Amino acid sequence: MAVNIKRPNGTEDILPKDVHKWHTVEKIARETAASFGFSEIRIPTFENTDLFMRSVGETTDVVQKEMYTVKAKETEFTLRPEGTAGTIRTMLQNGLLNEALPQRVYYILSCFRHERPQAGRLREFHQFGLEMAGSKSPLADAEVISLAKTLLDRLELKNIELYINSIGCPTCRAEYHKALRAYFETRKDELCDTCKDRLEKNPMRILDCKSPICQEIGKDAPVILDYLCEECSDHFEKLKKYLTKLNIDFKVNPKIVRGLDYYTKTVFEFVTTEIGAQGTVCGGGRYDGLIEQLGGQHVPALGFAMGIERLLIVMDKQNCDYLEPRKCDIYFATMGDEALEEAMELSKELREYGYFAEYDLMGRGLKAQMKYANKIGAAFTVVLGENELNEGKAKVKNMKNGEETEIRLNDKFTAAFEDIAMNEMMSFLEEETENSPLFSFNDNN
Ligand code: HAM
Repeated sequence: MAVNIKRPNGTEDILPKDVHKWHTVEKIARETAASFGFSEIRIPTFENTDLFMRSVGETTDVVQKEMYTVKAKETEFTLRPEGTAGTIRTMLQNGLLNEALPQRVYYILSCFRHERPQAGRLREFHQFGLEMAGSKSPLADAEVISLAKTLLDRLELKNIELYINSIGCPTCRAEYHKALRAYFETRKDELCDTCKDRLEKNPMRILDCKSPICQEIGKDAPVILDYLCEECSDHFEKLKKYLTKLNIDFKVNPKIVRGLDYYTKTVFEFVTTEIGAQGTVCGGGRYDGLIEQLGGQHVPALGFAMGIERLLIVMDKQNCDYLEPRKCDIYFATMGDEALEEAMELSKELREYGYFAEYDLMGRGLKAQMKYANKIGAAFTVVLGENELNEGKAKVKNMKNGEETEIRLNDKFTAAFEDIAMNEMMSFLEEETENSPLFSFNDNN
C-alpha cells in the first residue's frame, strides 16, 4: 500500500524562499507591540478541552464543529483554536494579574480549526495577537485598535476598513436576547438545526452562522446598538471620540458580533475586500467577564488577533515591501584541498564577526563554483588556489561592479574585508540617497 506523505488538507508549507515575508511581519509586529508596552508570551499548543468550552463558548462554531480534540490516556486535550483562552489561563496560573496593571502581552502562534479549507481559510493558521488586562476604560480600546492600525500601516497595507460595534454587557444583552428570540421564533422552521438549538441557548450566535439561509434571515434581525445600557453606550461613544482624535477612520457596523462567546462591549474587525470572502485580517474586542469566568477576579480585558496568512495574501497582492532575505557576503571559490582548508578557516573567522561566508561543500570545479556563487547572489567572491596560497594574498571581487581588491591571507583578513564591505555599503547608501526625493533639496545648498 502506498504511504500518503502529502501534507494534510488545510495546512501550508512555508518554504525558505518565502520565509523572509514571515520575518517581515513578525519583526514589524514585535517592534510595534513593544512600542506600545507589550511583552511576548508563549503558551502551550494544547490545553484541556474545558478551557475552550468555557471561554470560546459551547454554542460557537469553533467549539461545536472545529476543534481538534485528542484523547491521550484518560485526559482530553484540544489544539488551541485561538490564543486568548490559553493566554488568560497562563496569566492566571502564573499570577501575572497580581502584578502591575495593565498587563500587556502579545503572541505569535499557530492555531487549529477544522474548517472547510479555501484561500485564506486554513486548518492550521498563524496569528499575531495580543491581550491587555486591567483597564475598563475606552482609552484601552482605542489604544489596542490604534496598535492594530499602526501595524497594518507599517506593513504598508492599503484599502483596509475598520468596523466597530458594541455588543453590550450581560445587562443589556438580556433585553437584546429577548428581542432576538422573538424575531427568530417567527422563522424558526427555516433555521439550520444548530441554530434551532442556539435560539434557546444563545440567539446572538445565529447572527454568526455560516449557513446562507440563517444569514439571510438574520439580515433584518434587531441590532444590539438599540439595546445598549447607559454604561455601554457611553463607553462606545467615548471610543468613537478617541478614534476620531487619533485620526483613525472607522465605520460602525452593527452586524459584527464575532464568532467567539467571550466578548462584551467593543468588538472590531479590520477587513479588506481585495481577497474575497476571507477578508477579515484582524478581529478583536473587549471581554470583561472572561477572567472571572475562568476562576480569576473581575479584571476587564481586551485584545485582537491578526491572521498572518491573510496579511501575506494582501501584502503579496499589493506588492508590499519585505525585508531582504539574507544573502551570502563572501564566497570562496577554491582549487585543491589546501585552499579549501584555508577557506574553511577564513570563513570561520568571518562568521564570528557576523558575516555570511561560504565555500564549496559539493566537490565542484572552479567554473561551477563561480556559477553557484552567482546563483546564490554572493556579494563578493575570492578565488583561492596554489598561487594565492604561495603568495599569501588573494583578490576579493565585488560581484556587482567587478572591482577587485587584494587582501593578505593573514589574521587581518576579516578587518580588511570589513573595510571593503563598508565601502560598498556607503556607496550603496549614497546611490539610494541620490535617487530619493527626500534628499533632493540638498542639491540647492
Ligand atoms: P478570530 O476572529 O477568530 O479571533 O481570529 C482572528 C483572525 O485570525 C481572523 O481575523 C483571521 O485573520 C485569522 N483566522 C481565523 N480563522 C482562520 C482560518 N481558519 N484560517 C486563516 N486565518 C484565520 C480570535 O481568534 C480572537 N482570539 C482574537 C482576540 C484576541 N480577541 C481578543 N483577543
